[in-house]
Amino acid sequence: ELYNFRQIGADTKVHGVIGNPIGHSKSPHLYNAAFKSNNFNGIYLPLLVDSVANFLNTYNSPDWVGYSYTIPHKEAGFKCCDEIDPNAKAIGAISCMIRNPIDGKLKGYNVDYLGAIAAIEEGLRGLNGSTNGFGSPLAGKLFVVMGAGGAGKALAYGGKQKGARVVVANRSYDKAKTLADKVGGEAITLAELENFHPEDGMVLANTTSVGMKPRTDQTPIPKEALKNYCLVFDAIYTPKWTRLLTEAQESGAAVVFGTEMFLNQAFVQVEKFSGLPANKQLIRDTLARNT
Ligand code: ATR
Repeated sequence: ELYNFRQIGADTKVHGVIGNPIGHSKSPHLYNAAFKSNNFNGIYLPLLVDSVANFLNTYNSPDWVGYSYTIPHKEAGFKCCDEIDPNAKAIGAISCMIRNPIDGKLKGYNVDYLGAIAAIEEGLRGLNGSTNGFGSPLAGKLFVVMGAGGAGKALAYGGKQKGARVVVANRSYDKAKTLADKVGGEAITLAELENFHPEDGMVLANTTSVGMKPRTDQTPIPKEALKNYCLVFDAIYTPKWTRLLTEAQESGAAVVFGTEMFLNQAFVQVEKFSGLPANKQLIRDTLARNT
């Protein structure tokens, strides 16, 4: 099922995911399947890129219309945009870029936070009595974001936008403080988080790399500290069951997998690239078949 393009012609719109390494990416499978099911004349390639600026200067034809950005190029991509969406500007990183068909300018967006927040909201809606009857189920909740890197920034920003009370917990306090000040939240260290139990029903998101394969025996927060959380999300998706999510479930919290963030951002980007509704079930099934 390798990529499975439609026939490529003069009108075919070229897209791709820019990263390094990139061979492991599941995105080409998902996007090509989604484009095909929509009869959209587009392809989506894995693009192994050293320098984003050099790449964009070289591949500047009007038919190269859309890019996703992955590790380690989300901030480099941000610097190469002609225009930047206000949400991406506030976060300081992009997750995708689209060429304007009229003037050829490249505009950057960040949909990372949309994907993650949508997954968390869906998880909260599934909990009894957690919907507050108006707006987002995150509104008014204490939302603890572990990590203050690119993904941490996106989650803290997204949580704040939904009306949550955001707490940024990071290994180094300075980075937590800078991010908390930027979004209007509180900052603590990861070590302090172990004794942080101000109320029940808090929501926890991990954006640190702690627990990612191959260090699957690690967790950013001890199990004993999980008892006041009603829902725990982990941005890591290899493995699907991190130690954090396993211990969260054992502690009685609902869990939201990193794959949900990945899928939700794929849905949004497919729609942005093709201008057509994403076939969500097909994208979900394609990921399941290719993992
Ligand atoms: P991403 O773009 O995926 O968010 P990143 O920008 O490299 O990645 O950020 C990594 C985050 O994981 C940071 O918050 C980092 O904490 P520091 O700011 O203190 O470096 C956190 N992190 C990485 N390894 C960690 C570890 N072993 N323990 C705790 N936090 C860790």
